[in-house]
Formats: sequence, C-alpha cells, structure tokens
Amino acid sequence: MTENKLSKIKAPVNDELKQFNALFKESMKSSVTLVDLVTGYILKQKGKKIRPLLVLLSAKLCGGVTERSYRGAILVELLHTATLVHDDVVDNAEKRRGFPSINAIWKNKISVLLGDYLLAKGLMLSVEGTDFDFLGIVTGTVKRMSEGELLQISKTRKLNLDEDTYFRIISDKTASLLSTCCEIGAGSATEDEEKQKRMRDFGEYLGIAFQIRDDILDLVGKTKVFGKNQGGDIKEKKVTLPLLYALKNSPEKEAEEIKKMIKKGADSEAVKKIINFTVRYNGINYAEEVALSYAEKARAALDIFENSPEKESLTHLVQYVIDRNK
Ligand code: IPE
Ligand code: IPE
Ligand code: MG
Ligand code: MG
Repeated sequence: MTENKLSKIKAPVNDELKQFNALFKESMKSSVTLVDLVTGYILKQKGKKIRPLLVLLSAKLCGGVTERSYRGAILVELLHTATLVHDDVVDNAEKRRGFPSINAIWKNKISVLLGDYLLAKGLMLSVEGTDFDFLGIVTGTVKRMSEGELLQISKTRKLNLDEDTYFRIISDKTASLLSTCCEIGAGSATEDEEKQKRMRDFGEYLGIAFQIRDDILDLVGKTKVFGKNQGGDIKEKKVTLPLLYALKNSPEKEAEEIKKMIKKGADSEAVKKIINFTVRYNGINYAEEVALSYAEKARAALDIFENSPEKESLTHLVQYVIDRNK
C-alpha cells in the first residue's frame, strides 16, 4: 500500500527517473571485475531512490530539470550508496534491502574500499561537470555524516544519551543528505536564494522525520517488509528516541534493568523484552508525535511555492516518510 503511494509521488518526474536509472547504472562502471560484480549486486536491489527523487522534484518545483539536476541526482545516490555500505560495516548489519549486506557477503575490507570508490565516483562527476557549487555543498555533507556516525559511536554503550544529542546525531547522519538533495535540486534550476534556502530547510525537517521513522521501524517494523533485521539498534547498543523516552518515563528500577540488558549485549529474548518495554512506556507513540511535528515543519517550508504537481508530490512525500513501513 505504501509502495503504491510512492509510485504516485514519483509520477511528476517519472520520465526523469527513468533517465536517472540508466545514468546511475552507467556511473558505477569500472574496469575492475570485482567492482562490477559488487555494484551489479547493488543495482539488482530495490532502494526507494528517495534522494534522487528529491533532487528531481525540487528542480522541477524551482523551474525545471536540467543536465545539472541529473548529475546532482547521481551524485547524491552514489554518496547514499557509499554511506550505506560503510554504515553496514559500522553497524555489523547482516541485511539491507531484504538482501544480505555487502559486508555479509564480501566482508569488511571490500566494503570499505567499495564505499570509497562510490564516493569518489560521485565527486568525480561534479568535477567533470564543473558543478563546483555541488562539490562545496556535498563535501560539507560528507563531513557532517561522518561526524554524526562518529558522535553516535561515542554515545553507544555508555547509554548516556540525551535528546539534544540524539537530534544532533540524526540531523548530521541523515537529515544533512536529504537537505543537500533538495538544495542541489533547487540550485540546478534557479538562482533564487530564498527558494534554495526553503528547499534546504524542507529537506532537513523531512530528514529528521525520516530518521525517527527509521528508528521506530528498527524496533517495531516487520523485517520482511523493512528489509533490515528487527532490533538491530538494540543489539548494537544504540538508544534511539523511542527507547530514550521510555527509559526516562519509567520507574527507575525498571529502567536500570533494561539498561543492564542492553549493556550486556541483548539476545533475541532480551530484545523482545526491551521492545515491549519501549511500547509499554509510550516510546513509540511519543516518537511518532515528534516525527509528525517535523513533518509539519517540512510542509510549512513549502509555503512560498505556488501549487503545482511537484509541490503536491513533495507534500505527499512528507506523509509517506512518517507512514512508511520500508
Ligand atoms: C536508509 O535510507 C538509511 C537511513 C538514512 C535510515 P533509505 O531507507 O532511503 O534506503 P534505501 O535506499 O531506500 O534502501
Ligand atoms: C543511517 O544510519 C544513516 C547512514 C546510513 C549514514 P542507520 O544505521 O540508522 O541506518 P540503517 O538503519 O542502517 O539504514
Ligand atoms: Mg545502520
Ligand atoms: Mg548506523
């Protein structure tokens, strides 16, 4: 059902997305057989392609899709793919998009190098296209994403996370890229700085809502639909917003017990208990409310734009992001 909705959202840029898919495939090519083997495996999977979608919709909303928009769309999806490959190493993840992760099949060494390769390919595209504005934006994004992941690592295990730090982590590791997608899309279509800023803000708020939903799904999503293993964050000792709320709003004794379970390394039985605890103390409901409040901020950022099919799609995309199951 949500799948259906996403295809509707994509409708205003359907032809452009087809073009994108062909160019994206082309952009990964290498003369090294091993690289083609692994990228071939990645290309068979069904990612949602939300980032290129954001570039293209933002461009169309701001005046029209250009050659630069396509280069921007490929750049962000290459960067996204690179960060997923690296993130799965960092998180010891076994599953991605319903398939075994790259590290599960080819191990960490190849994953790290392939991630670097994909990032370099993306940056090269901008150099070749002389999109130096994109390079300036994207290098800042890569820095923020790395900082976000590193800050997260420094907070795991200790379990001393506060909400402000949680928001800083998700803003850096996830919202920064969604914001960049919108900014690049707008920048490929208009010089109007107010429009560019609005789109950047839209992407930032959307990105925060997106990651909160992701953190909810990690706890209560269906592995078969979500494509990643349930409870992965708990196993990795990562406290996210729902659990953070439950820990703060439960009797101290119970909260301490849960913390101990996480620190010890939770097995499947413990993971179930921790998820139950999170639900019981309204962690999921609370996180859903917070995601909704960011979704509303995202929609408000679009206020200055006249009605159009693209604006409508972006508005629906906001809803999709907080309702999604995959
Ligand atoms: C996954 O992003 C990484 C996060 C920021 C949570 P997506 O859910 O957009 O990944 P794909 O590309 O659709 O698999
Ligand atoms: C998402 O991190 C952000 C990046 C991939 C940089 P997560 O670790 O929360 O995302 P998933 O759940 O693996 O997709
Ligand atoms: Mg991960
Ligand atoms: Mg991670």
